[in-house]
Amino acid sequence: MKKVGFIGWRGMVGSVLMDRMREENDFQDIEPVFFSTSQVGQAGPDVGKEIPALGDAKSVDELKKLDVIVTCQGGDYTHEVYPKLREAGWQGYWIDAASALRMQDNSVIVLDPVNRKVIDQALDSGVKDYVGGNCTVSLMLMALGGLFNADLVEWASAQTYQAASGAGAQNMRELIAQMGTIHGAVADKLADPASAILDIDRQVADTMRSSDLPQQHFGAPLAGSLLPWIDKEMENGQSKEEWKAQAETNKILGRGEQPIPLDGTCVRIGAMRCHAQALTVKLKKDVPLDEVLELIRNANDWVKVVPNEKDATLRDLTPTAVTGTLTIPVGRLRKLNMGGEYLNAFTVGDQLLWGAAEPLRRMLRILLE
Ligand code: HSE
Repeated sequence: MKKVGFIGWRGMVGSVLMDRMREENDFQDIEPVFFSTSQVGQAGPDVGKEIPALGDAKSVDELKKLDVIVTCQGGDYTHEVYPKLREAGWQGYWIDAASALRMQDNSVIVLDPVNRKVIDQALDSGVKDYVGGNCTVSLMLMALGGLFNADLVEWASAQTYQAASGAGAQNMRELIAQMGTIHGAVADKLADPASAILDIDRQVADTMRSSDLPQQHFGAPLAGSLLPWIDKEMENGQSKEEWKAQAETNKILGRGEQPIPLDGTCVRIGAMRCHAQALTVKLKKDVPLDEVLELIRNANDWVKVVPNEKDATLRDLTPTAVTGTLTIPVGRLRKLNMGGEYLNAFTVGDQLLWGAAEPLRRMLRILLE
């Protein structure tokens, strides 16, 4: 049985990963060892079998004994520990949720329902580093992988609606706190049917602009508003999140030589953990819409085509409908006025599941095959 070490299993992505692994009985097929940076020697989590006490996540000697390391600890940890382990001669598999190693030549971005071939080729050629993709990119490819893999996409542009969880657990709390503060400021007026809506609106705006609104983590009011910038500034005017779309999509698809142009605007909205994106896809040819739907629908077991109808859309194509599930609905599928080669699409996905934890646990399973 492979000895598999887990680091960062208590954080948000790590906890989702643990839950999924318990649900799928993944721990039965491995010898799990849990590590900590702060609670070495204490008891590990309940995974339905005996496990040793928590190891030291910074100890190269302890980590070297593992066949596989799965880390959700974050990029700083990867930057600190990964090079030391490799320098010490460790030959095991490194599966990482953080972006630190994502664009390295000797790593593969894992999303096996879309790029199993790329993963298999990498395994055959001895690649040892397997990294989860950016959540927006992974969710877009889970939705539209059928078109990309049929080589039908000339270019695509995504306008995103990204949930608070993508920014972190504290941000999710802050979003709710902002909502509560706003509601609290006008609760008495709301309860009074005779109150004037413009008075309520003014007070809401004042509250959103005031220092009373908690905004330590987002750095700006999000509830009742939106934030059209995610991650760092790049020199070309893109945000880092926008930059990742083209870079990571093409790496996932193994298209380094012939990259598909992808660009758009990434926006944080007040959803909890589901990212949504509106896509304009320029197809290489005017493929009939029913063929497009078939390609999308048959690409993997999780994508679900939502009919382009109001009732179905409002029922199935929202963060509220999708949150906590592995389903990847894609809808609003229609040809745009620009012509038969221009496809409109809207998709939603849980950014902690397919956007983070799920590709990692599946990569671990592939190693056990
Ligand atoms: N960078 C993403 C976001 C999440 O901020 O929503 C992780 O891929």
